Amino acid sequence: MLRANIQVDVSNRIGRIDPNIYGHFIEQLGRCVNGGIWGEMLQARKFVGFDDDHDGLPDPWRRSGGRDPQLLASVEDQGDRRRCLRLRCLADDGRAHGVGHGGLAVRRGVTYSLLLDARSQGDVREVEVGLGGERVVREAPGGEWEHWEIELPARWDSDDAALAIACRGRGDLLVRAPSLMAAADRATGGFRADVIELVRAISPPVVRWPGGCFADAYRRRDGIGPRDGRPTVFDPAWDAWEPNDFGTDEFVMWCRSVGAEPYICVNTGSADAAEAAAWVEYCNGPAESECGGARAANGHPGPFGIRYWSVGNETYGGWEIGNIPADEYGRLFLEFAEAMRAADPKIELIAVGADPVDHPDWNRTVLDIAGGAMDYLSVHRYVPHVRDDDEPERQYVAIAAAPVDIERRLRAVAATIDEVLGPNSGVKIAFDEWNVWLDANRDNALEERYELRDALFAAGVFNALQRLCPDVTMANLAQLVNVLPAITTSRTGAWGTPIYHAFKLYTEACLPVAVASHSEGPTFDAAAFGNTPALEGVPFVDVGATVSDDGGRVALAMVNRHRTEEIEVEIELPGVADVASVEVATLSGESESAAGSEQAPDAVAIHRRSLSVSGTTLICRLPPHSATVLTLEPTG
Ligand code: AHR
Repeated sequence: MLRANIQVDVSNRIGRIDPNIYGHFIEQLGRCVNGGIWGEMLQARKFVGFDDDHDGLPDPWRRSGGRDPQLLASVEDQGDRRRCLRLRCLADDGRAHGVGHGGLAVRRGVTYSLLLDARSQGDVREVEVGLGGERVVREAPGGEWEHWEIELPARWDSDDAALAIACRGRGDLLVRAPSLMAAADRATGGFRADVIELVRAISPPVVRWPGGCFADAYRRRDGIGPRDGRPTVFDPAWDAWEPNDFGTDEFVMWCRSVGAEPYICVNTGSADAAEAAAWVEYCNGPAESECGGARAANGHPGPFGIRYWSVGNETYGGWEIGNIPADEYGRLFLEFAEAMRAADPKIELIAVGADPVDHPDWNRTVLDIAGGAMDYLSVHRYVPHVRDDDEPERQYVAIAAAPVDIERRLRAVAATIDEVLGPNSGVKIAFDEWNVWLDANRDNALEERYELRDALFAAGVFNALQRLCPDVTMANLAQLVNVLPAITTSRTGAWGTPIYHAFKLYTEACLPVAVASHSEGPTFDAAAFGNTPALEGVPFVDVGATVSDDGGRVALAMVNRHRTEEIEVEIELPGVADVASVEVATLSGESESAAGSEQAPDAVAIHRRSLSVSGTTLICRLPPHSATVLTLEPTG
């Protein structure tokens, strides 16, 4: 049996942990927002998108009934960056002619809400819409746009249902901005209700948006105003069409519904300081200001009061739109900061910082020029970025050890801040993108399937962040839903990945003040792998020790990184007279590669038990590849 010894000095306080270290990040990328957080079921609902089969309709819209000779279907510009669908019925043969949007998942008994604008020309008599066995027939709209709301209760289950929109008569039916959502999602304001429930359960303190790389091409005006009138634009960062249904107002409303503070990253890649300042005014200005007035007109008279703003994203990277040298970025940051603070002096600004090993001079240069104007310097880190994903043991070791390397890098950034700005500058680190990302270049690389192994990595990062609490006061897992995900969704369900459960364990059990701990025990060496360097003497048992403000409770978070061996830990609490009872919460699964799924969401789960003890030396067995939080109430 392997053994380790842990000493916790509850009176030696490292500092207060900012709850924002358990923060998140959502990006308009892949299925994170569209297809994850936002409940829209239709693609290309504004009839802009890729047309792979060159039939004149954006995918996945198709003419129903193949080459229906009685139907012409086309998409046409309406001006003001709006498009609509025109269905021309050539003959009144009593049949309905139209288009379908396939590939939808519907469930019997669930009601779906269809919204659309329609008008007709000529002698269209009826409009028929259908979904999942339900059919609704309506008298044709008139010559002016009408807004229709139709409920479609599905009569059967299908993973490949089609929404059909068709008309009878002879003439043209024009359809604009259809939107299909489960009625329950429509009722939340358009957000997936199942995702909201899962997110709430991990109490997200802060959520960053809209990117990431997406942010540096995002024009904030595209995402405000009446939703159906917002343009679908091509996103050059990820080569995708963005419908802009989820914009600033939706982001803020969604944050409110999950109880998180919104954090916005402004565009320095294709927008200027005036645009960033206008965004701040839109969010935080009074209704009497120009942009605050636009917010009020959009239904939000009271300011959103958004506190956290970052100025660009990963500007040091050749992949980033707006990539510039550090000195140029430093000057740009000053320009943005001045304009944004003129709109609201209370905002806190996060400057683009860089990994100190990959970009050794960036932070010093940016701090030299702009350190006095920033509140945070950001750092991002994804590990291990390997191409070869068929070496599970090497991957396990590298991922388990990576938090040690991350802690060193963050300490190096903190040291640079102190060197350049002095020890009490007040500039903190926002570690605002971090995660396991195996290979950024393989197919579907964004939708990592996380395993228990990756949850142990997250737990190790949390322990490091607790120890680093004087310097790192915000951290954001990249990302929350579907993309490098804490939460995965199918079209009809949502469940937490192992990383989600690590968040649950820590946010529920860890306490607000970090205290010193010391551990001795077996160690391992990790060979260099991907972007993770060789590491020697990595402890198998990693500890984060926290206490409540009054010292009346202690929580010890311990990760057993050993892949196969249980480890017995002896925990000493010098200065504590007695411990009455101990609550134990352990995150574990059958193997280090256990992963939840829609069918078995609890393959990785938190198991709870109580321990009866007397005295102040505790013995606890940590299962292999597990994370445990012991919560105890010392006396004396
Ligand atoms: O999280 C995915 C991407 O990774 C982000 O858009 C970017 O900032 C980082 O490189």
